[in-house]
Amino acid sequence: PATTIETRSGDTAVGGVPLAELADRFGTPVYVLDEAEVRDRCRTYRDAFPDAEVLYAAKAFLCRAMIHWMDQEGLGLDVCSAGELELAVTAGFPADRIVLHGNAKSPRDLETALRLGVGRIVIDSPAEIARLAAAVGPRGHQEVMVRVVPGISAGGHEKIRTGTEDQKFGLSISDGYAQHAIARILDQPQLRLTGLHCHLGSQITSVKPYVAAVRRMVGLMSRLRDQYGLVLPELDLGGGHGIAYRPVERSLDLTALARKIRAELGAACAAAGLPVPRLIIEPGRAIAGPAGIALYRVLAVKRTGLRTYVAVDGGMSDNPRPALYGVRYAPRLVGRRTTDDRTRVTVVGRHCEAGDVLAADVELPADVRPGDLLAVPVAGAYHLSMASGYNLVGRPPVVAVRDGRARLLVRRESLDDIRSRDVGV
Ligand code: LLP
Repeated sequence: PATTIETRSGDTAVGGVPLAELADRFGTPVYVLDEAEVRDRCRTYRDAFPDAEVLYAAKAFLCRAMIHWMDQEGLGLDVCSAGELELAVTAGFPADRIVLHGNAKSPRDLETALRLGVGRIVIDSPAEIARLAAAVGPRGHQEVMVRVVPGISAGGHEKIRTGTEDQKFGLSISDGYAQHAIARILDQPQLRLTGLHCHLGSQITSVKPYVAAVRRMVGLMSRLRDQYGLVLPELDLGGGHGIAYRPVERSLDLTALARKIRAELGAACAAAGLPVPRLIIEPGRAIAGPAGIALYRVLAVKRTGLRTYVAVDGGMSDNPRPALYGVRYAPRLVGRRTTDDRTRVTVVGRHCEAGDVLAADVELPADVRPGDLLAVPVAGAYHLSMASGYNLVGRPPVVAVRDGRARLLVRRESLDDIRSRDVGV
């Protein structure tokens, strides 16, 4: 996060553009994406995992510019809907470098994937196997993976833990559903199983669960080899790599992660007498998150007997994460030279409910006042991709900055946009 807001001649800037200038030009709230930071993060992954296929998890944030950047940086894409898939392919992204996920793929998801020639489809339930085989047709052919539940608990919040038993994603190893599904896939000549997939959860800051996952997955691969003579060439360990939202937090060490995964995979495969599969990873948050900044205007400062509320012109409609997961951010005042005195405040949004809190109990300069600009760093992932239309305030625009220049990527949602969908009487 420290790299995304640097101080330049007294102004807080990103990508060489002062945030105050961006607020003047594009209005607030506005989301700013540092293109160099996104690209650097892609390169960090390519360097740390030179032999792996790195797929950007589109759900973190997707727009056409992101799609181009991922293509240029040599990443693939992980998508989980016909919408993400079709946006990517129509923006020129090669379909064969895209993997389709989803625990409940709609007929349109599958039809779009087959029509556009998606690289692999990750099977998440037994019923999907026959559906997919039928959709592919008797002479067709589709590469698939199977999403496996490894039974490992990891991740920043209960709601984003997906490696544990007893949840909606994937097929469990321990109760045999994964093995059963694999046997059924092998019976379908149209489906070619290329590997196993697991995704432990999100905002994971330790390498240990990944090492445990490698062990568990190679264990299953070894049993599949014994039972069916099957040697799978790919292993997808999903995403989930945690990042620091505040200076006091630590991000997952990607170099250590790569080293530990490689070592464990090598050792486990050697012990099982299996060739080392090609590794696939699917980071979303760690690529987009730290490259984004949410920029708000302070609309009201209210001192009560209990606390000071700083209310801004956005809130839970553009960032539902504090309300959903109780996560914490470190907002900063932008630009204005202020007193050294600091005061504890609670930053709230403009929406009509008390839970619309963006940052509880944070320190800001004591003279914070309406008209000030407030920047929330590390806002690039799971903010706008989860934005809602609540209170019809309109979704904020997205601006890219690079080498001292700014350009609009996604425009602000207007009342006309909202009206145009409202076609009844
Ligand atoms: N692969 C699969 C199959 C996933 O389901 C996800 C995220 C990823 C990769 C990417 O995970 P990442 O590297 O971004 O952690 N809305 C939540 C996060 C939900 C993550 C869902 N799946 C949040 O704001 O924290």
